Amino acid sequence: MRGESSELRTAQGRAGQHGASRTTGGSFASIALAAILAVQMAGCGSASDTASKVVAPAVAPLAEPAQGEWARHGFNLSEDRFSPLEQIKPDTVAGLKLAWFHDLDTSRGQEATPIMVGGKLFTTSAWSKVQAFDAASGTLLWSYDPKVPGEAGAKGCCDVVNRGVAVENGRVFVGTYDGRLVALDAQTGKEMWVVDTVDQAQNYTITGAPRLVAGKVIIGNGGAEYAVRGYVSAYDMETGKLAWRFYTVPGKAGVKDGAASDEIMAKLADATWMGKPDTVGGGGTVWDSMAYDPDLDLLYIGVGNSGPWNQNIRSPGGGDNLFVASIVALRPQTGEYVWHYQETPGDQWDYTATQHMILADLMIDGKPRKVLMQAPKNGFFYVIDRTDGKLISADGYVKQTWTTGVDMATGRPMINPEAFYNKTGKPWVSLPGLLGGHNWHPMAFNRSTGLVYFPVNEIATPYIPDDHFEWKQQAVNLGVDLAKATMPADKAIVAAVKAGLRGQIVAWDPVKRSAAWSVDLAGPWNGGMLTTASGLLFGGTAAGDLVAYDAKDGRKLWSFPAQSGIVAPPMTYAVNGKQYVSIVVGWGGVYPLLLGEMAKKSNDRPNRSRVLTFSLDGTATLPELQASAVSSAPPPRPFGSTAQIALGAQVYARTCGGCHGDGVRSGGVLPELRHSAMAGDRDAWQAVVIGGALKDNGMVGFSRDLTPDDAEAVRAYVVARANEDSKQ
Ligand code: HEC
Repeated sequence: MRGESSELRTAQGRAGQHGASRTTGGSFASIALAAILAVQMAGCGSASDTASKVVAPAVAPLAEPAQGEWARHGFNLSEDRFSPLEQIKPDTVAGLKLAWFHDLDTSRGQEATPIMVGGKLFTTSAWSKVQAFDAASGTLLWSYDPKVPGEAGAKGCCDVVNRGVAVENGRVFVGTYDGRLVALDAQTGKEMWVVDTVDQAQNYTITGAPRLVAGKVIIGNGGAEYAVRGYVSAYDMETGKLAWRFYTVPGKAGVKDGAASDEIMAKLADATWMGKPDTVGGGGTVWDSMAYDPDLDLLYIGVGNSGPWNQNIRSPGGGDNLFVASIVALRPQTGEYVWHYQETPGDQWDYTATQHMILADLMIDGKPRKVLMQAPKNGFFYVIDRTDGKLISADGYVKQTWTTGVDMATGRPMINPEAFYNKTGKPWVSLPGLLGGHNWHPMAFNRSTGLVYFPVNEIATPYIPDDHFEWKQQAVNLGVDLAKATMPADKAIVAAVKAGLRGQIVAWDPVKRSAAWSVDLAGPWNGGMLTTASGLLFGGTAAGDLVAYDAKDGRKLWSFPAQSGIVAPPMTYAVNGKQYVSIVVGWGGVYPLLLGEMAKKSNDRPNRSRVLTFSLDGTATLPELQASAVSSAPPPRPFGSTAQIALGAQVYARTCGGCHGDGVRSGGVLPELRHSAMAGDRDAWQAVVIGGALKDNGMVGFSRDLTPDDAEAVRAYVVARANEDSKQ
């Protein structure tokens, strides 16, 4: 870090010099950039090197799956991803080899945790497709394609990913990207029932794995970036009939939903919103994490960020805006509210509380406590009493600029006044940024070491209020100005910001409230974690290796080159006395889509999506990696007025950049528009961007929001950017 300072300082100076004169940058971008660099330079992460003390569990874990199985999304109901299997251990793991692999037919982000029951491995791939394998041989038994329309690809912010199925009673349940919940016959993959869980007129998506509790399938959805209204639903496992629905934020003033949430909205939540317009959904989507405690009979849901982010638009009078960025405990039979803990009151920074939650029993101050642990995007590691939602501890696991800590008397974060960009009207650069100090990538809790392992990101991002906010149907509705936040063209600046991005695995001691150790990785956005009773920790890296570490001290014991960036978590199971480790690899998700070129710090290879399964006697090998072709064609001739290019930059930032990358620099998962032949062909461009010629492949036509002139302005901007970059 220290060695890079002078380089950063130089780049910071350049940002100030050139920003204002650039057609595609603009002075605000320079301000934001300078601030990002300053934030990145202000010291390193908080993870310490102190050795951990092992904490013995006081109480038995909840609902252990049958011998050798991985039956639940997070292994068991407490979602600790701690397997009792011990055949693969620190002194045998060096001999771990590929047993079988399966090529997946999509090249988008892969985020699933496979499930293994009854000798069958069930998993999902991008576009919500399901596969069932013989878990020992890897033979594909059946596959299911829910045929999500390609156009639905534009309904979500963060790639057409899916985090897996739920399996019980011979049924496999999957949520589809376009909002359906499907029950399949586990033997044949045939549909048993399908329900539509969302209003198709709005930008709802499902990426999370369903959870099975009390004979019900529990499913949430995403869409807070488009400012939809969040909720979680429970469907009868047998029939698919809706049992209950719990909205996480209030609806239209004075209108009851007839839902499980009606009572608590009236009693508590409504009053925390001030002047919410009916056009505002409010966000609070439950897009990933849940856990269940059968003894307490409580279902815990992680609630997402607010939408729009800028509070002036969604709740102009301020307020906490319950239940955004909260953990809420519900009765699974009825959806009745029991308690909540709000981590980021009045969230404006995309600080979701949807990150993975682990239930554990810890000895704290000499007393056994039933806790819930979470390391959400806002950068605090929370230990909460899961019986009543009372805060036990909250400590920063990563550098934080938005807060000085949590006030233990109130449980509320003390927020830096400058972070309220909606009030100051000024750009604010935050750490953690919009991608979070830790995102969805699952954690793992080892009951022997007492440590919780998770991948940590340092990605500072700017929040600049949008003074001319307009609602869009086919673009994010954030209330922040994405064009002003765009990275300038100057390659030296891009390189400097990229150099400041950081990714680690942190081993957190929830009792001592500090990091026991950490491992530095190539960059942010690394895969989720698995830990075993034999003392191993497994995790895939963004750079493309599956790695086994010693769970005690993070020593690297084994690794396998997976030929593609990894974001999904590994899992393990045993069949016929043999232990396997399995993982779905394939680079993607919001980081490479939105941050584009920046994300290449972590991974600069094309997506190669596969299921990889390992055993100690494996004999399979991957085909050799083919070099990918890089376009060397010169960019098309620049055209268009300064005003047209500036308009193109605006439209691009709001409508295209979320997939094709910030500042027209692709992260490598979706097409690089600077090198697209279509950028030089007006008609082909119009046919795709307005006409929807590639809609079946996930590139929707944007005619609902954009005119042909808007599309032409974007083309002028893309061509200008291609020329700028070819000259540097
Ligand atoms: C939700 C994600 C998403 C958004 C938003 C998006 N695109 Fe795309 N785009 C895609 C995907 C996926 C493809 C690849 C389609 C294929 O494989 O045929 C693509 C392909 C393209 C192509 C074809 C490139 C080539 O050389 O084949 C163009 C041109 C394009 N997009 C322009 C745009 C423009 C302009 C915008 C904004 C107005 C935009 N896209 C917004 C996902 C997106």
